[in-house]
Amino acid sequence: MSDPTTPAPSTSGISRRGLFGLAGAGVVGLGVGAAVDRFVLPPTASAQENAAVYPFFGEHQSGIVTPAQDRLHFASYDVADISRDELVELLQDWSAAAALMTQGKEAGQFGAVSGNYDAPPDDTGEALGLPASGLTITIGFGPTLFQTADGTDRFGIASRRPAALVDLPHFPADMLQDALSGGDLCIQACSDDPQVAVHAIRNLSRIAFGRANIRWSQLGFGRTSSTTKAQQTPRNLFGFKDGTANIKAEDTGVLSDQVWASGSDGADWMTGGSYLVSRKIRMTIETWDRTSLREQEAVIGRTKGEGAPYSGGTEFSEPDFAATGQGGAPLIAKDAHVRLSHPDQNSGAQLLRRGYNFVDGNDELGRLNAGLFFIAYQRDPREQFIPIQMNLAKNDAMNEYIRHVGSAIFAVPPGAHQGGYVGETLFGA
Ligand code: HEM
Repeated sequence: MSDPTTPAPSTSGISRRGLFGLAGAGVVGLGVGAAVDRFVLPPTASAQENAAVYPFFGEHQSGIVTPAQDRLHFASYDVADISRDELVELLQDWSAAAALMTQGKEAGQFGAVSGNYDAPPDDTGEALGLPASGLTITIGFGPTLFQTADGTDRFGIASRRPAALVDLPHFPADMLQDALSGGDLCIQACSDDPQVAVHAIRNLSRIAFGRANIRWSQLGFGRTSSTTKAQQTPRNLFGFKDGTANIKAEDTGVLSDQVWASGSDGADWMTGGSYLVSRKIRMTIETWDRTSLREQEAVIGRTKGEGAPYSGGTEFSEPDFAATGQGGAPLIAKDAHVRLSHPDQNSGAQLLRRGYNFVDGNDELGRLNAGLFFIAYQRDPREQFIPIQMNLAKNDAMNEYIRHVGSAIFAVPPGAHQGGYVGETLFGA
């Protein structure tokens, strides 16, 4: 097990590319491959994206304001009957492996193929030869880590549960399934390559064997938000641009105000952290697809093509909620999603949204089991997600086309310092 006083082996890990990049040039010969690479072909967009490497250590955990990657593998875990020391060791082991994998290296000291021939390899191997692909690994703590439903304080941390880490209330029309909700720990793995994201969750789950088991997990195949101004706004499965009015990495004042927890919020150890709310939202897309374009745009309050507010302008124009059309009716309907979720309607509250599209096969009626795996980061869910979602659940015209089936909340601690581990501010102090 790793020792918190020893630097994590982030610099000594085996590079997945270093080992296999040369072999990948194959029989054609390295010279030809390298020449083609460097002088003939311009890098493709995806090659550029896959080249991204984000730090694991830092003031904040990566995967929050990091430019939203294209793919997600999210897992929620139940912690087994282990001691506080064993939980800390798990967090240390996860942090050490995450520090390696986010840099494009293999998990463990010996990786996939360099260890003891008679033992299972340290790394499962399916990401060999693949670059870091913008992988971020973000770790969170659920309410039940602090205190179980029957009040047991398994790890001696009940008194340090942040007030903001509330149990989410029941919202009107919630159809939540226990098997898709809650969890003691979570890991959000985002990458521009699905294989890299899955490799990360698989290896972290393997490392957790006997200490934590996956409770539920979710694959996401397309981002539904932009988290930097340079990113193009993607589309959700309703076909609309999603993320236009999101909080962006450049909005540093808004991030301090709305995303990062502060010492003055009551839980010192969360300073520089944030709170993650996830909602698995099934879309009844077959009904949506039989709905007129007029109705679709009225439901969202924006145009489908450009993503401009229905009150006029272009994608990034501010919506004018007072603007009226024929007969004095508001151009952006009273029950339009953008009106109800806008900060003007929610005492200034905003969210950093970081969700993903999902399709989990189909149901027994032949309908796609599809929707939005909604993820939002915020400083205090009591003032942000909860009132906004209460407003939406009661009034949003979109409710006819969606169903919330999964829900979870996690405190996402600040980033670890080089060689430290995520959670050290809670367990190390
Ligand atoms: C399947 C469910 C949902 C879909 C399809 C959806 C779609 C959209 C779209 C198309 C926009 C406009 C573009 C943009 O600014 O990003 C938007 C904005 C927004 N949505 Fe959602 N959304 C969903 C669920 C939610 C939920 C559950 C919440 C929070 C409780 C939420 C909060 C927001 C917020 C805060 C905005 C920005 C409003 C503004 O400042 O203008 N959305 N959503």
